[in-house]
Order: sequence, then C-alpha cells, then structure tokens
Amino acid sequence: MRVALTGATGFLGTRLVRELLSRHGAITVLTRAGGADPVDRIARALHAVGTPEPRLAERLRVVEIELSRADLGLSAAAFRELADGLDAVWHCAGDIDLEASLSRVRAVNVEGTRNVLALAAAGRRDPLFCHISTAFVAGGRRTGVVYEDDLDGSWGFENAYEQSKYEAELLVHSWATAHRRPAVVLRPSILVDDRAPRPELPAHPLQAVTRAIEAILKQATPLDKVLLASTKGPIRLPGAPSAHLNLIPVDDAAAAMVELAQARRDRGVDTYHVVHHRDVTVADVQHALRDLSRTRFTLVQEVPVRMTVLEAKLHEHMPSLTSGFLPYLAHRRRYDDTHVRRVLGTSAGTTPIGAGYLLSGLRDSSRLAEITR
Ligand SMILES: NC(=O)c1ccc[n+]([C@@H]2O[C@H](COP(=O)([O-])OP(=O)(O)OC[C@H]3O[C@@H](n4cnc5c(N)ncnc54)[C@H](OP(=O)(O)O)[C@@H]3O)[C@@H](O)[C@H]2O)c1
Repeated sequence: MRVALTGATGFLGTRLVRELLSRHGAITVLTRAGGADPVDRIARALHAVGTPEPRLAERLRVVEIELSRADLGLSAAAFRELADGLDAVWHCAGDIDLEASLSRVRAVNVEGTRNVLALAAAGRRDPLFCHISTAFVAGGRRTGVVYEDDLDGSWGFENAYEQSKYEAELLVHSWATAHRRPAVVLRPSILVDDRAPRPELPAHPLQAVTRAIEAILKQATPLDKVLLASTKGPIRLPGAPSAHLNLIPVDDAAAAMVELAQARRDRGVDTYHVVHHRDVTVADVQHALRDLSRTRFTLVQEVPVRMTVLEAKLHEHMPSLTSGFLPYLAHRRRYDDTHVRRVLGTSAGTTPIGAGYLLSGLRDSSRLAEITR
C-alpha cells in the first residue's frame, strides 16, 4: 500500500507519520518546496516525543510541492508519476492561523485541498482520500449537538479559518460524488499535548494563547503587574463560566485517525468526529492560565465597554487571542461521535485531560510567571 501525506512536518502531521510508518514500510511526504529539510524536522520531532525512527531517511520519500498551485507546482510528468503510484492520499497540511484573512486561508486550505484532490483523482490506482478537517466546521453554532453528518454553513463562522475548512469539506464531498470514489473526513477538536514544549516540536494551539499573553505581559508596568496579581485587578475576558471545550491529545487523535481510515467503504464520504469523550470546562482552562501567569482572568458576558489599560492593550495587541480564541470561551456545543465509536468501540480521545495536563503541556513554553514576578 503506497501512502502520501501532506502536512507531515506539523503538530499533527509528525504524529501521523509515526502512525502510518507503524503500518507501512515507507510513505511519501509532500512537503513545502524550499523549506528546511523535512526529514530532519520530522526526525527531531519524533525523537523529542520519545519515538525516534532510526531508518527515517530510508522510509520517507520526499516530494516538494507548492500546495496552492495547479498540479501542486509539479511538472505534468512528475504529477502523473506521483499520482499513479498512490493507494491513499492523506491531506493534513493547512493554515491554522485563526486571525488570518479569508483570502489567505482559502489559498492553502481550499485551493490546497482542491489540488490534492486532483492528485487523488488522477491516480490510476484510485487512491483513498483521507482529509483532515476540523470539528470547527460547525462554525458559529455555540450550543446543541453537532452530528458527524452535519455540514451546515448557515450558522456562520467564528473566523475565516473555520469557513475555509468548511469550504474544503464541501470540495471533498463534490469530489467523491463526481468521481464516485470513497473519502474519509476526520474532524479533530482542539489538539493538545502534555509534553513540555521544545523548539523541535511544532506548537499546539493553546501554546499560541500563552505566547500571546506573554507578549502583552512583557509590556506591563510594575503597577500593572501588582494589579494583575491582585484580586481587584483581573483581566476580564468575554466568556461563559458554563462553557466547555473539547480537547484531544494529539497522539490519541493520530492513532484513531489511522485506525478509522482502515474501516471498509466503497464510495461516498465517511465523516468522523475525532474528539475526546469528555469536554474540558472553560474554568479548567482559566485555572491553567492563572497558574501559569499568576494572573487572574475573569469571565464576563461581554467585552467591557470601559477597559482597563491592560485590557485595552490586550485587545489592541493580541487580535489573534481576542478574535481567534475568545469566541470559544462561550461555546457549549457537543460533538456526537457515533461513527467513531461504531468503528473503535470508544471515542477517539480517552486520556484524561484537566488543568494539570494543560499546565504540563504549556509550562516550559511560557515565561509568564517570570514576567509577572
Ligand atoms: N491544531 C489543531 O488543534 C487542529 C484542530 C483541528 C484540525 N486541525 C487540522 O489539522 C491539520 C494540521 O494542523 P496542525 O495543528 O498540525 O498545524 P501545523 O502544526 O501548523 O502544521 C501545518 C502543516 O501544514 C503544512 N503547510 C502549511 N501551509 C503549507 C503550504 N502552503 N504548502 C505546503 N505545506 C503547508 C506545514 O508545513 P511547514 O511545516 O513547512 O509550515 C505543516 O506541515 C490542519 O489541516 C488543521 O486544519 C488542527
């Protein structure tokens, strides 16, 4: 079985490399043209997570691509040769910047998907298409239950990233119908890890939040710091104390994805919510951030009209936090994962996650405590 994977150098992709190599002798990685040596990057990441692969260079075939260009930027002959040699195409590459403009994320997430679908369509061996989507294609829907067969843009989207991933899923459905071919759509929730961050490991989304907070705290005056640490001067963030988030350990997600892709199918799209069986409360996230930064955050119903100086700095300097992440502090929806449990017998994520797990996965990346000291 010959397998190709995009996004192999990323947070999820490095784990997918490991899972795919546990089942296949070799895989082809389709990596960004002109970037740092992908085999070296993947090797260092696998070493850092405690699963080094000594024969990695022999077991990975690297093809450099331009994701957003027709034929992935390859010559017609190279594109055909690549396509004809594949039995499965895993598409994991994506731009996950929650603050990016729609045109920017569309170029990677929508056009990139279109081009990788074209590769899968061209292949003589009719490769299976495995698409990494996100549970957040559910968009602006904040309450209720989202089912795996739901794909509904009428709720709007919290950000352009969500919209681009939704549009990419629509492409996968059109492709499967037009070519009468099977496809697997894997929708993870928020991917996390409890390993202390290291330079050789790709970052996970919550680390971006702590980095953003770190950036703002660096600008805080001594008085700001006293206020931040006191019970009278917490930063107020819009959110709901009853809100909850679904977080899944990246290792659980990657293992489940590769297992799910094995399930038998003839045609059509099988969609799976690759989620944890239990949500994390926003209060747990709040506690982890408080313990990291010695800074108190309070959830309020709306962005305060009269902001403190620090709150104003926060909203001005951290658009990625305020518009990308904060809406999720008001989410109370749940993800049904019946399709996953039918195949795996359990939800994809079962490793317990609480404030302790979150802290351990964030602690070393953040010098927040030092900064507020
Ligand atoms: N992180 C999450 O919590 C989460 C949750 C749900 C779904 N997902 C989905 O999971 C997938 C992987 O996310 P991740 O967290 O692993 O992100 P990541 O760490 O940022 O990795 C993104 C990967 O995509 C590649 N990529 C991005 N733009 C590219 C381009 N123009 N050409 C070629 N390759 C490109 C990156 O290559 P370089 O290393 O060269 O930049 C990297 O390998 C995405 O499709 C994302 O939507 C992620």
